[in-house]
Amino acid sequence: MSMDLYRELILEHYQYPRNMGDLKDPDIHHHDKNPLCGDQVGIGVKLDENKVVDIKFRGQGCAISQASTSILTEKAKGMTVEQLKALTKDDIQEWLGVPLSPTRLKCALLPLTVLQAGIYKKEEENPS
Ligand code: FES
Repeated sequence: MSMDLYRELILEHYQYPRNMGDLKDPDIHHHDKNPLCGDQVGIGVKLDENKVVDIKFRGQGCAISQASTSILTEKAKGMTVEQLKALTKDDIQEWLGVPLSPTRLKCALLPLTVLQAGIYKKEEENPS
């Protein structure tokens, strides 16, 4: 895909976010903000046999953070918790497809940080 198409993809996810909303009784839920700007993301996940069967988010912030959250929720469906934990900034960058400055990278990584923090919080609460 060309850079322009990636930019369009980001804008399109920002304008029409996928999986926006709330889950009843999520197995994982976490909410946090980017300390640099105060933009926020909350993500809820429903699991079945350790796999993501549903994921929803609420957020408020810049186009990159919200588009990145929308894209992450699409990609996360069907993944195992272990696969979610193994996601890195390289995955997010690849999905967004545009070069990001360090500040913009923080925006893009907000949802992954929130999601992984939610997983670790759940694991601390229910050690197996
Ligand atoms: Fe706040 Fe992007 S400017 S997350």
